[in-house]
Parts: sequence; C-alpha cells; structure tokens
Amino acid sequence: MNVQDQALLDRVTTSFAVQFGHAPDLVVRAPGRVNLIGEHTDYNDGFVLPCAIGPATMVAISKRDDDKVDVVAADFDNARDMFALTPPPERNLSQPWADYVRGMIFAIQNAGCALSGAKIAIAGNLPKGAGLSSSASLAVAVGKANLALNGTDIDNSRLAQIAQKAECDFVGTQCGIMDQLISAQGKAGHALLIDCRSLKLTDAPIPDDIAIMIVHSGVTRGLVDGHYNARRRQCEAAAAAMGVKALRDANLNMLAAARLDAVTTARARHVITENQRTLAAADALAKSDLAALGMLMAQSHASMRNDFEITVPAMDDLVALLQNAIGNQGGARMTGGGFGGAAVAIMPIAHVADVQAAIQKQYVTPDGHAPLIMVERPGPGVAIL
Ligand code: GLA
Repeated sequence: MNVQDQALLDRVTTSFAVQFGHAPDLVVRAPGRVNLIGEHTDYNDGFVLPCAIGPATMVAISKRDDDKVDVVAADFDNARDMFALTPPPERNLSQPWADYVRGMIFAIQNAGCALSGAKIAIAGNLPKGAGLSSSASLAVAVGKANLALNGTDIDNSRLAQIAQKAECDFVGTQCGIMDQLISAQGKAGHALLIDCRSLKLTDAPIPDDIAIMIVHSGVTRGLVDGHYNARRRQCEAAAAAMGVKALRDANLNMLAAARLDAVTTARARHVITENQRTLAAADALAKSDLAALGMLMAQSHASMRNDFEITVPAMDDLVALLQNAIGNQGGARMTGGGFGGAAVAIMPIAHVADVQAAIQKQYVTPDGHAPLIMVERPGPGVAIL
C-alpha cells in the first residue's frame, strides 16, 4: 500500500475507533477519476476515456443490530449523521456530504438488496470541487461497504449503476454513468474506453513512460448545478428533433438537415464531434501517438468552450499555458463537468518537471494562489482492503 493510502486508512480507522469505540469489520476504498477525453457524452449514450487516479475515498464499516445508520465524516470535523433504513431516508439539507450516503442506501434498497443498520466512518483525500469525482467515489465506496457487510456480492458495473441512481434520483444531478463506472471498474495502468450505451469496457493501456498531470484551476465547481441539467435537456431536445434515441445515433449531416436553433445546434455539434474524437483518441493512445492525442484534446477543449460553453476564462488560460508548455508531445484540456474544476494533461514523464515549472511560474488561481498540481498514473477501481 502506498503512503497516501496508508495515511488515509489510518485516518478512517482512527476516526471509526474514536467515534464507535472498536475497530471496523471492513474498509473499502473507491478512487476518484480523471477523464482524458469524452465530455458530456456519457448521458448521450456515447464514449468516454477516463482512468481511476490515486486519491480516493475510504469507508470503514461495522454492523449495528438495529436499523439505524450512524455516519461520521472525518473530513468535516467528525460531523455526524444518523438515519433509519425504514422508512427510506430523505435528504439532509444541512449536511450535503451525507446525501451521498443516504442516497446510496436509498438506491441500494430500491434495487432490492436488503441492508442492516451500520456504523460508518468516511475519509477522503480527493480535492473537493476539482471535478475529480469525490462524490461518485463516496457513493461507490459506501455501496460496496454496505453490500459487503451484508454478504451481498454484485457486479461492479451494477454497483456503478446504483450509485448513478443515487445521484440522479436522490441528490438531483442528472449525471451520466462515467464517474461511478470508472471508480468501480478502474484498472491500474489503464484508461478505459467506455461505451456508455452497452457499458462495454475496452482497456486502453497508458505506457509506463507517460504521465497524467491534473491542475486545479482554483475555480471550485458545485456538483448540483442547474447548468449541468440544462445541458442534458438541450442534448435530449436535439436528439428528439432528429428522431434518434440519443445523440450517439446522430451525425453532422443529420444535424445540418434538422435546422435547429443556433444554441441547440452547437450543443449537439459538441457531443457528435466529441464522440468521434474520443474514439480517435483511443486509437492514438494505442499507437502511442501523443501528437495526435494532443490535437484531439485541443479540439475537445475548443468545442467545450465554443459549442458547449462549459469552460471559464481561468480554465481557458490554464489549458492554453499547458498546451504551450507541452507542445506536440501530448496535450491538455478541461476535464469533468465544467464551470471550473481541473485541467488534464498528458505528456512523457520526462517532460513533467519542465511543464510543472512552467505552470507554477505562469498560472495563478483567480484568488491569487499557486495551483494544485497532481501527477498521476492510472490506479485500480473499488476494492475491499
Ligand atoms: C460529470 C458527470 C458525468 C459526466 C461529466 C461530463 O462528471 O457526473 O456523468 O457527464 O460530468 O463529461
């Protein structure tokens, strides 16, 4: 186990022992993710190319012999939330973190799996508001921990679908499947090309000499934002107008023929072209063609800025600086849902120090701080420790 995981494990087991007076029965770890390309394509039945990363959420758990769930959040000053399994939990508006626990319990019970009461401690080391899926990793970890505690073993893709339902039906963001699926199914050393219609996963190995750099723009994104759901509605309207099930089934000729209004056309154009770029990027990665990959990432960013309109000026600046520092040896783009969060960059490991130095010198966050820079290799998905 690496140093970061060991520190996180110590923190979650200590918090558990202090709050509940004994050691947990088991601990589950679920990672955050970074998406290399394929943004806002998942809920359009399209393609994404994410990988799991090192930072993660850990959940320590033991049974209770009643139907109460008692949760402590080590990262929020050991804030506590307690609720019953029946009637099904409702939202806790005063503690947003608790909604991912309540929502997951709600969704597991809706999926027909019986649960017992539980004592739960949570700790994570994913930066909040960076768009690296701290909430999806929390839901996946909570789900795996509760199911394992009750001896229920379900497929990790099914676990991800339940976690997505928790977010859509309980928390209220109409998200796609990407974040939960990669947290559940991530594979060390690999990105995964995911077909979000069939949920087919195709390995996309990332060679050992290639690094993934993540730079937080310093603009924090709130997950439940109206913008996200609004984009989804525009995509669905475009698909309906073209008479297809989802934008996955549309092409640019169909879009031109449909004569939609300018905004809807631009939104659909992003998704249609982003699906093509994602498939092409998986090919480029397979051939270790970093120049082609970099070009596709640049086109993806431009499309998110001009057509999907989900970037912010600080992010555009950051991505331009990264692209400039990397040249044709890789690429950079915004990653995640948008309106802030992090940029992702790919480059040979040999270039990491220079690129990092360039960004530290040239980029300050809107509130005047040095940006958080993480250098990652793809890690594994959810696991019982
Ligand atoms: C968020 C959502 C995902 C996906 C991305 C954008 O991370 O949770 O389902 O839609 O935004 O690609």
